[in-house]
Formats: sequence, C-alpha cells, structure tokens
Amino acid sequence: MTETSLPPVAPGTAVPAPRAEAVLAPEGLPAALPPRRATPRRYAMCRPDHFAVRYAINPWMHPGDPVDRDLAVAQWEALRQTYLDLGHVVEVVPGLPEQPDMVFAANGGVVLGGRALGARFAHVERAAEGPAFAAWLRARGVPVHEPEHVGEGEGDFLVVGDRLLAGTGFRTAPAAHEEAARVLDAEVVPLRLVDPRYYHLDTALAVLADDDVAYVRGAFDPDALATLERLYPHALVVGEQDAGVLGLNAVSDGLHVVLPAAATRMAADLAARGYVPVPVDLSELLKGGGSVKCCTLELRG
Ligand code: ARG
Repeated sequence: MTETSLPPVAPGTAVPAPRAEAVLAPEGLPAALPPRRATPRRYAMCRPDHFAVRYAINPWMHPGDPVDRDLAVAQWEALRQTYLDLGHVVEVVPGLPEQPDMVFAANGGVVLGGRALGARFAHVERAAEGPAFAAWLRARGVPVHEPEHVGEGEGDFLVVGDRLLAGTGFRTAPAAHEEAARVLDAEVVPLRLVDPRYYHLDTALAVLADDDVAYVRGAFDPDALATLERLYPHALVVGEQDAGVLGLNAVSDGLHVVLPAAATRMAADLAARGYVPVPVDLSELLKGGGSVKCCTLELRG
C-alpha cells in the first residue's frame, strides 16, 4: 500500500510542478497561476498503538463499533512512509496507553518559528495529551508556552504563509486566538465553524500553499465565509462529497497534497490547479474523526 514512487525532495531545493502546461487557467482561475513548489518539511506523528474509540466527542465517533487497531497502525505506517518518500522528516512521539486519541498529533500544539503554543483540550478525555506533547517538544529544545485558554493546536490553528487561520465554535476558544497571536507573533484570522462534523478547522479547510487554501462552505458562518472569499478569492471550494470523507484533512508541502483516498473529486481538482495529489487510506482512523492532517503536527523553524 506504500508503494508510492514519488521523487524525494532534497533538503533546500524547490521542486517545480511537473506539468506546467496543466496549470493553464482551469475555469475560474487566473490565467497565470504561480508554479507550485515543494519544500521539505519536518513532521511529528504518534503511532496509533493505543488507538480506540472509547468515548464520543465528535459525530464521527461511535463507541462500540469495531476498530481494527492493527489496520490503523498499518494505514498510519503507510502515511509515514508517504512523507518519507516525499523527502520529509518524520519524528515519532510516544503515545500514552490511556490516551486513545493521541494519534491525532496535530492537536498537540502549534509550532512556529521554533517556539510552540501548547494545547489545552476542550474535553477531559484528552486533557493529559497537552502536557505530554509539551514535554516532548521541550525535550527537543522547543520552548512551549503553557496555554491559558482552550486551544487544540493545529486542529484549529492553520499556518498559511504569514497568517494563522484560527477556528472556533466547537473546541478552541476565541481567547486562545489572542493568546496565539501574542505567543507566536503572527496575524491571526478568526473563523467560526458551525457544522459539528467539521469541529476542527483542519476538517473544513486545507492549506495548499502559502497563498492558497481549499475549504467547504457549509462549515463556516457568513462572516468567516466573507473573510475567506476576501483573503483567498481563487481558493478551491470543495463540495460535501469530498469534505464529507474528510478530504480537507490534507497535508501539502506546497506541491504534493497528501489527502484521504476517498476524496477523488478534490484530487482531480488539485491536479487541475498544478498540485500532485497523493491519496492515502486512513479508514480506521476516520472512526475517531480524523485523517491525514489530524495525524500530522508540523514542526516549523
Ligand atoms: N477524536 C479526536 C477528537 O475529537 C479527533 C481529533 C482529530 N484531530 C484533528 N486535528 N482534527 O478530538
């Protein structure tokens, strides 16, 4: 399942989009789309050795439904191998046996410019993960700010160029947006989520490049939609068919977009915009309400 033969991204090099002519003005796009380039990334991931669905804190979770943990681990390993094949670095955070959702490492904090805003979880079931991810980051030399307000890391904070898009409505508190702006010294753009299936910003919006995002309209309130339209007038708007399989829970290196395999239309749309879609199957982890991006915390700077 991991037999992707993708060209590795050598550190420090930028890989040009392979089919520049395919970038020619698909409908609704400006005639001159910037060429897409990959940059090497560093990710933290947590193997789902203790993954289970024992409680329900989002509408995807159904305790009692069978979960195949071995399959979850195999699918996660394939994701990790996909990143390695793309030339990225993956560091593995040890999971805690009593924390079945810890595989969703994106929630462990936001790391920007070599420092981190730690996570404070909305639900008591995940509370112990915050200090565990913070301790792991600190042991690696990353200073971590202990959060005062509820904030679920890269689940609700997405870095797009110099901006931090910040979700609220289900998990991360608006006060945490101000905290993030202060601690990470970034421009923070608040976006209110309204559909419980898209409870974290990273289930409703994918960062494709420093100037490009994809999102599903139904996840956002009217103010948030107006903001997204203003900031990203050429964004890829994804339909419910792709968003409903968590297609937007994707990870891009600027060129390759690793996304859930079931999001087939989104993959075709990405290819038409000059990206290289890289589908992976994380069906077991979807039972916890997460997919590619949820499993991936980017370590920046
Ligand atoms: N079961 C987890 C929760 O509800 C899933 C978290 C998914 N992570 C994410 N970054 N969206 O908290």
